[in-house]
This record gives sequence, structure tokens and C-alpha cells, in this order.
Amino acid sequence: AQQIPDILSPEFAEDPYPVYRAMRESAPLLWHEPTQSYLLSRYADIERAFKDKESLYTTDNYDWQIEPVHGKTILQLSGREHSVRRALVAPAFRGADLREKFLPVIERNADELIDAFRDSGETDLVRSFATRFPVNVIADMLGLDKADHERFHGWYTAVIAFLGNLAGDPEVAAAGERTRVEFAEYMFPIIRERRENLGDDLLSTLCAAEIDGVRMNDEDIKAFCSLLLAAGGETTDKAIAGIFANLLAHPEQLAAVREDRSLIDRAFAETLRYTPPVHMIMRQTAAEVTVSGGVIPAGSTVTCLIGSANRDGERYRDPDSFDIFRDDLTASTAFSAAADHLAFALGRHFCVGALLAKAEVEIGVGRLLDAMPGLRLAEGFEPREQGVFTRGPASLPVRFTPVRD
Ligand code: HEM
Repeated sequence: AQQIPDILSPEFAEDPYPVYRAMRESAPLLWHEPTQSYLLSRYADIERAFKDKESLYTTDNYDWQIEPVHGKTILQLSGREHSVRRALVAPAFRGADLREKFLPVIERNADELIDAFRDSGETDLVRSFATRFPVNVIADMLGLDKADHERFHGWYTAVIAFLGNLAGDPEVAAAGERTRVEFAEYMFPIIRERRENLGDDLLSTLCAAEIDGVRMNDEDIKAFCSLLLAAGGETTDKAIAGIFANLLAHPEQLAAVREDRSLIDRAFAETLRYTPPVHMIMRQTAAEVTVSGGVIPAGSTVTCLIGSANRDGERYRDPDSFDIFRDDLTASTAFSAAADHLAFALGRHFCVGALLAKAEVEIGVGRLLDAMPGLRLAEGFEPREQGVFTRGPASLPVRFTPVRD
């Protein structure tokens, strides 16, 4: 295990996949001093951690990992408390609410961003679209004032810096805590006002949600909205940029998706497997656990390397090739315990926004393809991924032939 590069090394940041392979092969359980956690790299071990029904793995790690920036969120809840909270929020992200209330929001926000560059024949898809679109969608779904979207985007940037601060930079940590305070000062009056005047938006839905007399208080709702910045923003941001980076690197697959838009779902699922937006999810052990390669003591932090699990040769044939037509992928990115990859996790905390993300990708990618015939990377540009905890293309300058009408 000695020669395996550290997950905080420049070598890992450059290309984590060979490092993951070395871990899976020779150190599937590896103590990591800087994060004081055990690294798990095999699909089977991580799947077991996510699907755990014996309460061996808890999400108590989120108390220090995310509470300082978000407050107490659904991710920290367990048991019945979690089931009730999940039932309170989940309906807003699927079915009739998604179709009737939120698809128009997604469409309008995609068009608005694309209109800003559609005539120019060039743009940076990361800067002009991916980093903006999912955050604008969430702000608009919540029914926030358009004039506040820029502030919302600023909080988004601070939140993801906080969550990605594996090396523990104190300034980033302090900025994260300031964000929690500012976000609360902004949201509380809006939540109170919305309770008085319920509308069709997501915030009203959260205010009104009730199960067996249980409702969310203002703090619960504010923390959930804060979580959405990272959980619903950064992830979908990196997924959309990743789809384009992967398709541009495989022009025949880009052509196939352009030809048949129903393949966007496959491009999404394969991108989530091949280059997942979230590379690492932590858990805390409540008891001693036996995994490949040894035993994890009770009370330990465990880092589940999703980016590694998704390239595990025990699970996928030819795991290091990007192939939207692979037959060990069914593109079932909906709510299903038998998912195609671990990018949305599994089990109790399985991403509650998976269908919303899918809708954003179908609409966003579809409209971008419509607006960008002849799509190609800018001459001489080599895409690079950045990030360790979450990861995605740093930038994606492209050229295309503007559509003249
Ligand atoms: C949970 C990934 C989009 C909201 C999760 C988890 C992952 C994940 C890995 C599990 C965390 C854990 O088990 O500790 C992703 C990816 C997305 C995406 C890769 C996009 C491609 C979204 C969207 C929303 C969202 C659009 C907006 C509603 C949430 C929430 C949870 C969650 C609220 C917590 C669920 C719970 O604790 O029960 N997501 N997510 N996500 N996601 Fe997503």
C-alpha cells in the first residue's frame, strides 16, 4: 500500500483513476491519516455501506462535515425521523409537481442562459451554462426574486468551497460559517412571508407539507434549501459539464445522441458512472465492521470512494471506457434500489433529486444540442477535470455554427 499516491496529492488530483485501481487491487481498506478516515474503494464494500440495514453505518459524520454550513439537514437524520422527513420533501421532486410546476421552470432557465450566447458561435459551457443552470433552477423553483439569483449563486460558491475543503483551510471554513448566517438572515423572512401567502413554488410546498401532523419548522426548511445549493446545484452542474466533456471526447457517441435524443439518458447514466460529480461520501461506523481487507473499528469515519466503485472491474466490463451503449447499464436513473452506478448513492439517503436532475439534463442538454450544430472543442483545447471530493471539467470552451432563423 506504500506506493499508492495520497488522495490529497497533485498526482491524484491530475488523474485519480489509476490510484483507485491500485487501492482496489492491493489496499481495498486503507487508513488515511490526513482525513482521519478509512478509505473503501471496491464496489461491493461501498454498496454494502450505502444499503446497510443493520445500522452499522450512520451519517453522524455530517454533524461536523456539513452542519457548520447548512445547519441540521435530512442527511443527518436516521430511522423514522428520516423516513418522515423524506416523505415530506420527496413528492416535490417527482410526479405531478415535477411535470406540471417545475418542467416549465427548467425550460425557461435553460433558454435564458442559452440565449446569451446562441448567436456568437462560441462559449465556455462550464462558465456560461453548467455552473449557472442548476442553481438558477433551484432559486426559481423556490420562488426567489430574480434580483437575488446572483447572491444565491455567491452562497452556492461558498458552500461548495466549504464542502470541498478536505485540507481544512481555516479561511474557507470561516467563510462557510458566515454563509450559514447570511443565508439564514435572507431565508427566514421569506419563509415567514411565504407561510402567509402560499403559492405554487417549492418553498410553499415545503411550508405546507404535513404527514401525521408533522411539519417542518423554519430552521428545517432553511437548512433543506441550503443543502439544495450543493446537493442539487454542484452535482448537476458537474454532470452536465461531464456529459459534454465525455461526448466531445467520443465524437461518434456525440453524433448518436444528436441523432436520437432519447440517448441523453444513457449519456447521463454513463457519465455518472464514468466521471461521477461526487467522488467521495462519508459514513461513520456504529459498530465494528468487516470489509474486504480487514476490520473497521466502531466509531470510525469511512470514506466511500464512489469514483473508484464505478470503475470496479468486478462490477463493469471494460470499466475504463466511456460507452453509452454498454449493456451493464440500463439507464435506470430513476428511483431504484438496483441503480446502474453509485453516483446517487443507494439505500436510505439515495438522491431524492435524481428525477429532477434527469429532467434538467434531458432539457438542458437537448436544448444545447439544438442551439449548437457543429459543436466542437475550441482549437487546441485539452479538457481537464478538477476537484477531489467533487470533480468535473474545469472549463469547456467550444465552437459551433449559430442557428440563423
Ligand atoms: C442525496 C448525488 C442531484 C438533492 C444525494 C447523495 C448523492 C447525491 C451521492 C447521497 C448522499 C449520502 O448518502 O450521504 C447527486 C448527483 C446529482 C444529484 C450526482 C446530479 C447528477 C440532486 C438534485 C437535488 C438533490 C437536483 C435537488 C433536489 C439531494 C438531497 C439528498 C441527496 C436532498 C439527501 C437525501 C436524504 O438524505 O435522504 N445526492 N445528487 N440531488 N440529494 Fe442528490
